[in-house]
Parts: sequence; structure tokens; C-alpha cells
Amino acid sequence: MAGRIPQTFIDELIARADIVEVVGSRVPLKKAGREYKACCPFHEEKTASFWVSPDKQFYHCFGCGAHGTALGFLMQYEQLPFPEAVEELAGRLGLEVPHEGGGPAPARAQEALTELLGRVAGFYQETLAGNERARAYVRSRGLDAGIIERFRIGYAPDAWNEVLRRFGATEESRRALLATGLIIERETPRPGSEPWYDRFRDRIMFPIRDPRGRVLGFGGRVLDRGEPKYLNSPETELFHKGQELYGLHEIRLARASLKRLVIVEGYMDVVRLHQAGVTCAVATLGTATTPEHLKRAFRLVSEIVFAFDGDRAGRAAAWRALQNALPEAREGRELRFLFLPDGEDPDSLVGKEGREAFEARLDAALPLSEYLAAQLREQADLAHADGRAKFVALARPLLAKLPPGVYLELLLARIAQEVGLGADRLRELLHSDLATADAADALDGDDGARAAPARPMRGSARTGARGTGGAGGRRGLVTQAIQTLLHFPATAAAVPAAVLPALADIGEAELGGIATLRELLQALRAQPRRTSSQLLEEWRERPEHRRLGELHAERILLDAPQAGPELLGILDRLIGQVSAERQARRYDELLGKVQSATATDQELAEFQALNRRPRPPQA
Ligand code: UTP
Ligand code: MN
Repeated sequence: MAGRIPQTFIDELIARADIVEVVGSRVPLKKAGREYKACCPFHEEKTASFWVSPDKQFYHCFGCGAHGTALGFLMQYEQLPFPEAVEELAGRLGLEVPHEGGGPAPARAQEALTELLGRVAGFYQETLAGNERARAYVRSRGLDAGIIERFRIGYAPDAWNEVLRRFGATEESRRALLATGLIIERETPRPGSEPWYDRFRDRIMFPIRDPRGRVLGFGGRVLDRGEPKYLNSPETELFHKGQELYGLHEIRLARASLKRLVIVEGYMDVVRLHQAGVTCAVATLGTATTPEHLKRAFRLVSEIVFAFDGDRAGRAAAWRALQNALPEAREGRELRFLFLPDGEDPDSLVGKEGREAFEARLDAALPLSEYLAAQLREQADLAHADGRAKFVALARPLLAKLPPGVYLELLLARIAQEVGLGADRLRELLHSDLATADAADALDGDDGARAAPARPMRGSARTGARGTGGAGGRRGLVTQAIQTLLHFPATAAAVPAAVLPALADIGEAELGGIATLRELLQALRAQPRRTSSQLLEEWRERPEHRRLGELHAERILLDAPQAGPELLGILDRLIGQVSAERQARRYDELLGKVQSATATDQELAEFQALNRRPRPPQA
């Protein structure tokens, strides 16, 4: 078990640290009376609304509402998880961080792994310097010495056991190499040779670093036409492809003031954009952009531009990105799409056109709303009533992904305009399965003003608003379940195991907050004696922490004996609701196909069967 950092130490840390120094070493502060002010580092602004108070040892931005202690500032500005922010602050003050219970924090083990990965990156760098063929390749890709250094680009030699030999001399070091994915264990050991071999051989190596520069993994490119073109480190305890963005550390090195991020597809795109001076480029690691990527990116900037290749694959990737981006779209955030000419990627284009032309393209990128409307229009002929119905049917599942709020309203208005309807009429057609209470409560730490939840979705098993013993009016089922668990953690153990697979099957996009609910349930079942406060303390660095704290702090009118059955009832309704919504979505999908005459016989039969149900969902 990780040694927890005692609260008394954290209190002492905040008492000893000087917030003016902590903030001032990162953001230029101006004295203003007893306080200091600056342009807020957390949002784009021209006049200073960010204040630091030495008396209160607190910062506050009147523009975007960011606020907190020295520790909170480090977490927000340096993107550090709580324990690391504590380490950083303690380090500045020359204090050793104590851990309750003694045991080494898992952070230590991870540090050892990143340190090993860093040394291997150094080895790859040296190998590149000494290998003429590899140097010729990077030169042929237009990379200069400075950028190779800045990204720590290297070369993995054409050998089966160089890394193993140099870094895996002991049993312990081999275990570490295996944990990083740098070596692979042979399935069928060969007599006379070692049972492991290097994963990366004869490849140009791109180290993937966290924002602080620690190496988490690698992407390796072949020098010729070999397959696969890129080989990436596997998922490890350090490295999660669905979360990391390539280039974040290098952006920090560039120290340019950051207005937006550009998300591109490839390592080479990022490197060449940086080399050309477009130092706001990051890439996902061969995966689609996930909501986690976007959460991360939106902590740094309020504007994100996706850049996609102009080919078919690029367009498909853009559409996927749009779908994943919708849950993160909201007021104050800008999401735009840049489509490059067919046959170009950012790498080739910035090489031809240079920085200014590329930036002009970024400035002119299509807003999400325009891209969405254009895509829908392409799929449905708005000249006919059928086409308009289809347009609405296509829009519905997309709009349902958005959190409620001004952004959703604007998008709705934009789409209404597109189909030539009033926004209210469109809303009726959509049957208001938008902005349901669960979405309103999606536990993403955003506690901004929320639109009132709309009517419950038609055709669903939702039983409507029954607060957890009056805890909060029309609250989503996920929130009700979470709140019940927080108040009565012991009820977790009473949930029958048979319910768990059904919960496991629900995606976050289907029901905002479900992942948190599942984790909470698991954590409490694993350690039944745990109190909610203990758990919340452990979860302190998570984005949903604040919202969970609020739910925990609220009073609810429920007694312990009622809590178990109440929780089961909520979970039951929640599972029923999702299943009904799936059916409704399937119906819409089939309807689209039937209307465009692309349904197969089987789909037609399925559609008719759905139509025979007692309460068919209708577009
Ligand atoms: P591309 O093939 O578009 O990459 O794949 P690129 O960066 O333009 O490649 P070159 O070097 O200029 O030819 C985009 C990204 O998809 C992932 C990598 O992250 C790559 O940067 N990818 C691609 C893989 O993970 N594996 C592959 O085999 C290919
Ligand atoms: Mn390329």
C-alpha cells in the first residue's frame, strides 16, 4: 500500500511555502497594493485578472475562476498529480516528504522505470550519432540537429540484444526492462540463446515523454518500407496511449505563450511543425483522440485544432475525433478541424509552405459546429421531408453526447437553421433525450452553471426524477448511485455480483460518470471498511474529486437500512435506461438505412421487429 502523505505535513508545507515565489517564478507578477497581479496563465486574456495574495497565501482569477493554494497552483500549472506537487514544493523547501506506514510509494518504483527509459533514450541518441545510415535517414526527412536534440530522437541498433546486454545485466534490471516493454520474453526459448530479445531493432526512435520530460515509452519508425511502419511501446503501468500526447514536454521547452494546441496524427508531423516554429503541435500515439486526451489538452488551452490528412483515412479519423470530442465541447472551449489538401500531411505541408502559411490554415480551420452540420448535410437530402427526418435522426445521437449548456444550445440552433426549422421545433423532434440529468451531472469536475435537464427520453425505461431521499431533485441515476455510495459505503458490498457485468458493459459516452461509479463501487467492495473520506483523499487529484466532495458534503434524507435497497433500485433503473437508449439508437440507425434504402434484409427484419414493440421510439 502506498504510504499516504500525512495531512499535518501538507498543512505545514502550505504554511512554509510562499505563494508569491511559487507563482512568481513561473508567471511575471506585478505588485498592486498588498497583492500581486498578472495575466492569468490558465486562460487567454489581455488585461490582468489573476491575483495572488501573500496574506491569504491564495491565488484567484476573476476571469476564469481558477483559484487555490501554492500546491494547487503547481498541480494546475505544471500539470502535476497531487503527490508530485507535494514532492516539488517540499523539494524547494528542503523538506523530506514523510509517508505514513513507511512502505515505498509506488511513485518511487515508477521513477526508477522512467529513469531507466531515460537512460535507454540516451543510448539510442548516441547510436544515432554514430550510425551513418540512420543519420542519412533523419536528414532525408529534413530534421536538423537542434530538433533531433530537442526531441531526443535516436536510433535502435540493428541487433537482437543490445539493450538487453547493456541495461539488463541483473535479474532486477531485466524485470524493469520487461516492465517498460523494451525487451520481450520469447514464447519458445531457444537452447543456447537468452530467453529475451530487444523489442526495437533498426528503428528511428521517438521517446514519448510526460509533460515534465520523463520518458514513458517510445515510438520507433522503420528506415525503409518495412512493416509495421511504426512500432510503439506496449501499454505499461507508466504508459497509457489513450492519455498521453506526444510533444507536450517539447511545448513546454519552447516556452512560447500557448494560445491553442494542434492535434496531428504523426510523430513526424509534430517534430517538423516544431522545427518550423509551430510549437503548439501534439500527436496522439496511433490511436484516435480520446476524451482523456482532450481533458488534458483543455487544461492547457481553450482552443484545440485537429489537423487531418486530406485523404479518406484522414476524413474518417476526423469524424471519429469529432465524436470523441463532443462530450468535451462546452462554452469557453473552441474545437476546430483543419483538413489538409489530399496527399499532404502537416509534415510535408509545413515543409513546403512554411510556418506562416500553416498558421493561416490553422486560423481558418472549420469550427466543430460547421463541420458537424456539413457532414450531416452530406448524408441527408434536406430538400425532402424524408431527408430532414434523417438529418434529425443522425444528429440526435451526436447531440446526446454533449453536456448541457450554452454550447449545446448554440449547436442546436445551428442545426435547426441547417434544416430550416426553429430551434424549439427541432428540440421537439429530437424528443429531448439531450441534456438528460445524468449528462447534467457528468462528473468531470466542471461545476459551472447547468441548463435545466430536459424531459426524459421517450421510449426509455427511465422512471424519472426520484432524488436519493430528496438529495437533489431531478438528479441523474449515476449521481444518485454515487451519492448513496458515498454516504453509505457499506452498501457497496451488498450489490449482487450479477449486477456488475451489466454495469461494466456501459460506456462513458453512453452515460456520463459511469466509469467513476464503477470505480467507486470496486474500490469500496475491495476494502469494505474504508470510509468515503479516506477514499476521497486518495482520489484528490482526480478531476471528479471536487464534484464527489460536493456530493459527499450534501445532506441526504436516507437511513442506513434503506440505503442498500435504494442503491439496488437505482442501479436497476440505470441499467434498464441504458438498454432502452441503445434500442432507440439502433432504431435510428436502422431508420436511416431504411430511408436511404441501404438496409439489408436482416436489418429490415430487425427494424420491423422493433416497430412491433409496444412503445416504438420514433424519430
Ligand atoms: P502515419 O503513417 O500518417 O505517420 O501514421 P507519419 O508520421 O506521417 O509517418 P511518416 O514517418 O511521415 O511516414 C500516423 C501515426 O500513426 C501511428 C504513429 O503514431 C504515426 O505517427 N502509426 C502509424 C502506428 O502506430 N503504427 C503504424 O504502423 C503506422
Ligand atoms: Mn508523414
